[in-house]
Amino acid sequence: MSQAAASSSAGEAPGESELGAAEFAAIAAIMQREARIHLSDAKRTLVHSRLSRRLRERRLATFRDYVAMVQHDAEERATMVVALTTNHTHFFREAHHFDHFRETLMPELKRAASARPVRIWSAGCSSGEEPYTIAMCLLGRDRTAAAWLRQADVRILATDISTPMVEATRRGVYGAAAAEAIPEPYRSAWLRPSPQGVEIAPEARALVTARPLNLFEPWPMRQRYDAIFCRNVMIYFDDAAKAELELRLADRLAPGGFLYIGHSERLIGPAAQKLGLCGQTLYAHAQEASR
Ligand SMILES: C[S@@+](CC[C@H](N)C(=O)[O-])C[C@H]1O[C@@H](n2cnc3c(N)ncnc32)[C@H](O)[C@@H]1O
Repeated sequence: MSQAAASSSAGEAPGESELGAAEFAAIAAIMQREARIHLSDAKRTLVHSRLSRRLRERRLATFRDYVAMVQHDAEERATMVVALTTNHTHFFREAHHFDHFRETLMPELKRAASARPVRIWSAGCSSGEEPYTIAMCLLGRDRTAAAWLRQADVRILATDISTPMVEATRRGVYGAAAAEAIPEPYRSAWLRPSPQGVEIAPEARALVTARPLNLFEPWPMRQRYDAIFCRNVMIYFDDAAKAELELRLADRLAPGGFLYIGHSERLIGPAAQKLGLCGQTLYAHAQEASR
């Protein structure tokens, strides 16, 4: 029996249906349209396992029923998009970026902060480990090192398409194991014990504003950013979407600003002409690159 036929056979328990080719194609088309996330055929097993739970929760017997539901139910469609995002992240991920941030960009930002606002964007922030890593770098090793921030207007915007991830960022609470990735002295300085493990100290939380944002919808922000971290996000998009997003990110980089992308990513579109590669998966605004 074909998978499609199996998926529509009677008597299946909710959530135990096969995912047929037609239903997978319909789901992939929705993901492409809503989030520009490209689901290759190789993702079929992953889609099946992540959405089987939704079938059970909605008490649906087949993926055909589920696809019919998401076609007309915007709320379930948004839930499906969230269920099919990959949110893997950790504190101080790709530590060389934070070495560069501290050693090259921060001295410049400290000088600039006496005269103007400093803005940093974590685009695709997942559960918040990335923006809080940036916050810990800005705060430094202890309260004395953080003193410069009291006179400065410095903010980190953290955005993600997934509302549960944005809520997790706002909570700033993590398991004890997650905290092990944070090197001393940052761990002692900017974490507090909590019943679930640890929580981010108020000084670090105060720097971060978390908001839901689909990167392919209009951006409500007006300003340009001194640093944009868009790491391990573009890998999920097709080439046209990557090129489009790269260009929009490049246009939002302030003079002297840096774009940090993920370890397996590179700029593939016209943004590569606007920005200069100046390190491992690290691009500078043209003004900085030409120095
Ligand atoms: C693998 S995580 C990367 C987290 C963090 N940047 C890092 O490198 O550790 C990718 C994140 O991108 C988000 N994402 C995927 N498509 C998106 C879109 N169209 N708009 C905004 N965020 C998106 C996902 O929800 C997920 O949280």
